[in-house]
Amino acid sequence: MSETNETTPRKGFIARVWTFLWRPSARFSLATLLIAGGLVGILFLVSYPPSAATQPAMVDPGSGNELRAMYANAEEVAEGKRLADGSCAVCHGANGFSTTPGVPHLAGQRPAYFYLELRAYQTGARGVSAMNNAVKFLSDDALFKLAAYYASLDPIQPGAPSDPKAAPANPDPVQAGIAAAASCTGCHGEIGISKTPGMPSLVGLDPKYLVAAMKGYKIGQRKHDLMKSMLGAFSDADLENIALYYALQKPERARTPVVGNQVAGKVAAAACAGCHGNQGISLNPQIPSLAGQDAQYLAAALQAYKSGLRNEETMTGPVASLDDTAIKDLSAYYATQQPQPPNVRKPLTTAEWAQRCDRCHGISGNSTDPRLPALAGQREDYLQKVLHAYRTGARKSPPMAAMSDVLTERDVENLAAYYASQKARAVVYVIVPSK
Ligand code: HEC
Ligand code: HEC
Ligand code: HEC
Ligand code: HEC
Repeated sequence: MSETNETTPRKGFIARVWTFLWRPSARFSLATLLIAGGLVGILFLVSYPPSAATQPAMVDPGSGNELRAMYANAEEVAEGKRLADGSCAVCHGANGFSTTPGVPHLAGQRPAYFYLELRAYQTGARGVSAMNNAVKFLSDDALFKLAAYYASLDPIQPGAPSDPKAAPANPDPVQAGIAAAASCTGCHGEIGISKTPGMPSLVGLDPKYLVAAMKGYKIGQRKHDLMKSMLGAFSDADLENIALYYALQKPERARTPVVGNQVAGKVAAAACAGCHGNQGISLNPQIPSLAGQDAQYLAAALQAYKSGLRNEETMTGPVASLDDTAIKDLSAYYATQQPQPPNVRKPLTTAEWAQRCDRCHGISGNSTDPRLPALAGQREDYLQKVLHAYRTGARKSPPMAAMSDVLTERDVENLAAYYASQKARAVVYVIVPSK
């Protein structure tokens, strides 16, 4: 904060420690005081003694200004409430409980974070929103009191009627894929390894290819009434989950008979390797691997390309000159090759993501660092909105840009739902006397 405002006790000594005595002391339970005091005490001891060389100063990002310790007393908190009721409640609700879509709850938000965000709105660093005008003309002192007041409030608990939480989608895409694929095993085999001649194996194929193939059946571009009806009820997300599930299985050759001359097939396959890869392991996610596929299905597919039943321009040329014997031999060759897993890794589940987020944002999004926002109990729509804003760069923060960049749309939805539904805890920052 600026040098001009409030007292600055022992500047440079405890300047890095933010001390907020939020509530009138009457409201402190002894237990809270002891637990919070112990916590801050530990943090303080860990970082003690402070040395300018080794201890990073707490800085206002971008400004280079060291932030000094802040002490808020009951009058300042009351002053903050007066300001908030007059200027902020119209959007953020009474006592920081927002009932407006896209407007965050403020009750219990961590104070240093809160203060720095207000500064970011003032300078325009946090993009353009209704907030810029709301805080434009407020003094630094007013920002401080507002931060103190809102941090002193009990946070909003999940399930508040204003913001009904949608039931989160199945948070693990692979589990969702297993459930959706339950009806496929009868024909495509347990875990996608075919045991029935004519039925394709679904393992060893890139999820991009599998999704495209399934969509092809759905829209009728690939003509097969049975597959069309099998897949009709599935959403695009379901198809992605199914494809991911099969792609993560350890591939094996189809357990079906092979007829034909593999040696002759190997010679003929030289013409196909440019697209389908050596030994039928495709390196292009749009082109299917052929290694280990059921031989009868391979032959039927080649016949279908030849007759035009399966209408796909890329394959029309390669099959044009193949006779029935060549088709059988090629199929035998590819069916006997060893399939390989496609290059996909299991994505993190929401719980695994949340563990990574919690490293900064505190257990279940209950931040214990006054600079880092609490996420627990926040409005779900707001959390989604800001995660998108970090992803597109509309809201700037290097750590959050890196974190949100790798999230899928589904992850954003699931994480927002997850944090919105976590029990929110107030955190009290207590000064620890120096030795
Ligand atoms: C006209 C409506 C409006 C008013 C008035 C308003 N806000 Fe906001 N506030 C918003 C919106 C919308 C957002 C979310 C904007 C965004 O995504 O950056 C927001 C965001 C915030 C945030 C960021 C919260 C977070 O978790 O990052 C803080 C802090 C905040 N407001 C404080 C205040 C204070 C203090 C006042 C009164 C001085 C105030 N607001 C007045 C609409 C308003
Ligand atoms: C009654 C048997 C049957 C069931 C059940 C079935 N399929 Fe199929 N599936 C087939 C047949 C036959 C083909 C080959 C169709 C063709 O010639 O295009 C096929 C083809 C496919 C293909 C294309 C494979 C490739 O290599 O291009 C995919 C992907 C697929 N099925 C996925 C599924 C999924 C997912 C389910 C479950 C939701 C399912 N199938 C249920 C019989 C079945
Ligand atoms: C120019 C690239 C290209 C060449 C060369 C090529 N293919 Fe293909 N092949 C493809 C593409 C793309 C597909 C996927 C088409 C679709 O979705 O129906 C495909 C599909 C197939 C399929 C169906 C696989 C399945 O799982 O349904 C078989 C079988 C096949 N090719 C065999 C061959 C053989 C044998 C040769 C050589 C004689 C060959 N291909 C040459 C691009 C190629
Ligand atoms: C390395 C530390 C770090 C990690 C890990 C991290 N965050 Fe953050 N997060 C921050 C910081 C710092 C901010 C404040 C940035 C700013 O000022 O905009 C923030 C802000 C946020 C906000 C804005 C809160 C508000 O009230 O506006 C959300 C939402 C958020 N993080 C979600 C997540 C999620 C979800 C994850 C995990 C995928 C995550 N964060 C992981 C450091 C982190």
